[in-house]
Amino acid sequence: MVATPIKTEKRLTMQKAAIAADTTAIRSLDWDRDRFDIEFGLQNGTTYNSYLIQGEKTALVDTSHEKFRSLYLEQLKELIDPSKIDYLVISHTEPDHSGLVKDILNLAPQITVVASKVAIGFLEDFVHQPFKRQIVKNGEQLDLGKGHLLEFVSSPNLHWPDTMLTYDHGTETLYTCDVFGMHYCSDNLFDEHLKDIEADYHFYYECLMAPNARSVLSAMKRTEALPEIKMVANGHGPILKYHVQELLKRYQSWSQAQSSKEKLVSVFYTSDYGYSDRLSQAISRGITKTGVAVEMVDLKSAEAQEIHELVIRSTGIVLGMPPIQGPHQKEITTNLGTVIASVNKKQSISLFESYGGNDEPIDTLSTRFREMGAAVGFSPIRVKDSPTEELYQLCQEAGTDLGQSINMTQKVQERKSLDHDLDKAIGRLSGGLYIITAKKGNLSGAMLASWVTQASFEPPGLTISVAKDRAIESLMQVEDQFVLNVLEEGNYQALMKHFLKRFPPGADRFAGIDTQAGQNGSPILTDALAYLECQVVSRLECSDHWIIYSQVQNGRVSKPDVLTAVHHRKVGNYY
Ligand code: FEO
Repeated sequence: MVATPIKTEKRLTMQKAAIAADTTAIRSLDWDRDRFDIEFGLQNGTTYNSYLIQGEKTALVDTSHEKFRSLYLEQLKELIDPSKIDYLVISHTEPDHSGLVKDILNLAPQITVVASKVAIGFLEDFVHQPFKRQIVKNGEQLDLGKGHLLEFVSSPNLHWPDTMLTYDHGTETLYTCDVFGMHYCSDNLFDEHLKDIEADYHFYYECLMAPNARSVLSAMKRTEALPEIKMVANGHGPILKYHVQELLKRYQSWSQAQSSKEKLVSVFYTSDYGYSDRLSQAISRGITKTGVAVEMVDLKSAEAQEIHELVIRSTGIVLGMPPIQGPHQKEITTNLGTVIASVNKKQSISLFESYGGNDEPIDTLSTRFREMGAAVGFSPIRVKDSPTEELYQLCQEAGTDLGQSINMTQKVQERKSLDHDLDKAIGRLSGGLYIITAKKGNLSGAMLASWVTQASFEPPGLTISVAKDRAIESLMQVEDQFVLNVLEEGNYQALMKHFLKRFPPGADRFAGIDTQAGQNGSPILTDALAYLECQVVSRLECSDHWIIYSQVQNGRVSKPDVLTAVHHRKVGNYY
């Protein structure tokens, strides 16, 4: 049978609303966006929020994604003649918020752009035209009149090095862009329905903020000097108004939990408007999926003492090769020297290129670390051209591999310490044996699974439990499609052995295996007893696993009289 795809129509709409005195939210609603980079599947679309504050002077806080160009500019012009805007406050320069900066400056060249020093540097690189600017530091203020005194809070690394928050003393509103946001698109302007949004709020934190937990805590500490925060005007999702304190508290406790983890990997990169940031984020996300903490550190702006202390605390070091030449070379060279000098033999070192041929040579450094006796974490990742989706996937898998190897010793000890009778009792639960295969664009993955069960009749649906640190989990986000291949009793060993292998990051899981493409594009294993083509409907977070509910769209049995292979286990505390 073939089921109807869950969603096909792609919608972009706008929402404009007064949210406080002289303050209007202009929200770009991207209902069906389903992915932010490889690691970040979106269940509920997203929004890009921009704000207009009209005191005696007028400030626009952030813009929108370029896909909203005409819709956004139309809404803005309905609110104000652009030639009357005095300031454009840039919280952070990623294109989903700054995609229309150039358009705004063309419409209103009188505008003064207000941003952190790092953000102004990034803007110069992509605006390519002169513009008035005001670089602001932590604690500096800008008075718009009518009580709207803006105060800026430096918050580097949340999640880019250029980020700053802006507090309006007049409305007690904190403008935060990515921070305290979520990818959740609905007509609700505010967060009144906490239950609806809390899973997305947490997932967003895990993907974007967890690798910068220490910076989250530092920024939150800085906000303590502000008067009460009554509203958080974020850049994604509903504005926080009804549950502000609760949701801020969650960031605090998640970040404290991250920071107190015993196993830490420091990821050093060099911020740029480009690849190093994204590659390091993909690696970091791969590591945090395994439960190991990450601290991302920008070699351009970190202090040598901070680097030294972090390296000493770290179990693993990941180092993105900085460019051979460019701005901030002195700081980069000093900080790179500090990393090298602080590393010890007990740590693993992993290196990646980021600038496509213009980096410090990876082999020289690799040899140097080897001679020092440091262990290799993952094999050096080499980047010759603009990164592709496959490269980002490889980076994430390399991070996951690294995290898993760091966890290995600890996990074995934990297994031994569980109650033996309980382990044996849980081990009596059995399941079938299956291989999940998925292909999305040029990305593909596969996994041996046994925690699979039918979950609904109409439409036919099933659940699969997937460990959070599985590489294929990134390809099983809501609306993603995959194939569940059913293995045959007495004839599953070869496939099981193949897919149980530890594949190096980025490796082709299907080399040497006979497959054919299913209707949904994912590989069907020729030697499977049956297959089901599925589409993910929803995901439920369950401790160290995701339970993934999917609808079955299509299926076939090749040997009707043969039974499914069964997985019997002795103990229940591992597979
Ligand atoms: Fe929402 Fe980092 O951009």
